[in-house]
Amino acid sequence: MAAEPSAPSGPDLTQGIELGILNDNGNLLGHVGDEAVLLARRGNEYFAIGATCTHYSGPLAEGLMVGDTVRCPWHHACFSLRTGEPVAAPALSPVARWRVELCDGKIFVREKIEPAPAPSRAKTQAAPDRIVIVGGGAAGFAAAEMLRREGFAGSVTMVSADNAPPYDRPNCSKDYLAGNAPEEWMPLRPLEFYRDNGIDLRLETEVASIDPRGRSVSLADGKSLLFDKLLLATGAEPIRLDIPGANGPHVFVLRSLADTRAIIERAKGAKRAVVLGASFIGLEAAAALRAREIDVHVAAPEKAPLERVFGSDMARFVRLLHEEHGVTFHLEQKATAIDGARVRLENGQTLDADLVIVGIGVRPRTALAERAGLEVDRGVGVNEYLQTSAPDIFAAGDIARWPDPHSGSRLRIEHWVVAERQGQTAARNMLGAGEKFTQVPFFWSQHYDVPINYVGHAEGWDDIAVEGDIAGRDCLLRYRRGGRVLAAASIYRDRESLEVEVEMERDSR
Ligand SMILES: Cc1cc2nc3c(=O)[nH]c(=O)nc-3n(C[C@H](O)[C@H](O)[C@H](O)COP(=O)(O)OP(=O)(O)OC[C@H]3O[C@@H](n4cnc5c(N)ncnc54)[C@H](O)[C@@H]3O)c2cc1C
Ligand code: FES
Repeated sequence: MAAEPSAPSGPDLTQGIELGILNDNGNLLGHVGDEAVLLARRGNEYFAIGATCTHYSGPLAEGLMVGDTVRCPWHHACFSLRTGEPVAAPALSPVARWRVELCDGKIFVREKIEPAPAPSRAKTQAAPDRIVIVGGGAAGFAAAEMLRREGFAGSVTMVSADNAPPYDRPNCSKDYLAGNAPEEWMPLRPLEFYRDNGIDLRLETEVASIDPRGRSVSLADGKSLLFDKLLLATGAEPIRLDIPGANGPHVFVLRSLADTRAIIERAKGAKRAVVLGASFIGLEAAAALRAREIDVHVAAPEKAPLERVFGSDMARFVRLLHEEHGVTFHLEQKATAIDGARVRLENGQTLDADLVIVGIGVRPRTALAERAGLEVDRGVGVNEYLQTSAPDIFAAGDIARWPDPHSGSRLRIEHWVVAERQGQTAARNMLGAGEKFTQVPFFWSQHYDVPINYVGHAEGWDDIAVEGDIAGRDCLLRYRRGGRVLAAASIYRDRESLEVEVEMERDSR
């Protein structure tokens, strides 16, 4: 998915651009040396920032400017035009900035502006001393990074049951599994980042219990940690199959980097794979295994893959797309047993499998919260500040059920970007910011060369308004109820997807 930055195109911005070329809210892609630069005008102000998104190298010039920010067309990260800061995930690193000068009716981009120094870690009276983060995934990492970005001076301890430092989990079922992403793409930050930022990262460490009153955490190895504020970000765990043979050595779930590495090892000698479940993860894994030229069969109980999320037209497209790439579907079928290298289906058919991937959904890991006496109802209940029923404990990511202002209901969803942004909001709120979490949910999914983007959230709808051509891979689908757009799915309509996001933000205000 990450694209190599291409050779810079457009004018050399150091040579000057006629003032009239940029209208009030216009922007222009150019370059300074071999760096792509986005020149943007907002009223009478001019900005020049790096034009390549620091997430997966998305082209910011094709994004959307909103106020003094620009949003990336690919996965909706947002950067400040003034500072280059990544103000909304999934980008976590800033883009460069250049000084802009108006001279003789022209705009000149001059020298690069040195990045602002990290805020000094000053202790304020109101700030807590010790923050413990349980979970080293999307939400946990984004929270730790934001605490330091905000200049938090106290201790930050991140406890993770994972054996790898925080990594790019979505890639575990995409390019990395397909063999198209090098190892160095996976960590969100190198190990030195934790040392340099004073983040005490404890890997392969399980939290056994939390005592909200005593403000302490007990670790499975018998040690304990005290906290002033705690973030619970334990994510979700894959549901296991409960049929004979499901514990076989060739049967895998796909949640962690370790799972992906085990699947890759097994895939090396495999000719045929069976994927159980036509979920996002199941289908992405199917696509990745096809890239490894493995024969792939997908068995799932539903009539059409992803129909519950996307509706029937898009579901038909997803099915055809996978079939075009050689995947064989066995729909309206569950597996009843795995007998060595054979998977048996309800209809009696057996499928040969050197490798089986089970992608039948996940469950939020709420056990710690329940044992701690926190309010849990199909997720850890949080208020608009992401605070649980214990005021010093916050929750974010796949476990959190929050009041979503757009749908008007309490949501718990499993999206990378939502988890990161909740982690960031929770971090600021642990420092006393009092900031509501109001972001419109967003996720993306990748099937071969087709990315599907989705903004908002719709569990049901009156109708789906389709613009463009789904089969032609150029479409935007609006899911509407009571005349309101609840969500929009799109393929190669990135700008419109951003525009819908902004409309939804305005609507709920
Ligand atoms: C293969 C795969 C592909 C995906 N692709 C996409 C995608 O394309 N787009 C998208 O929007 N979303 C995608 N998702 C979903 C996305 O990754 C999740 O929504 C996101 O990771 C949730 O973040 P989180 O921080 O809540 O949990 P996680 O990222 O799961 O992190 C949870 C952390 O908590 C730790 N933990 C759990 N219990 C304990 C304990 N008791 N003690 C200590 N540590 C503990 C775990 O070890 C882990 O480090 C994908 C998920 C998977 C598995
Ligand atoms: S490439 Fe920009 S948000 Fe992913």
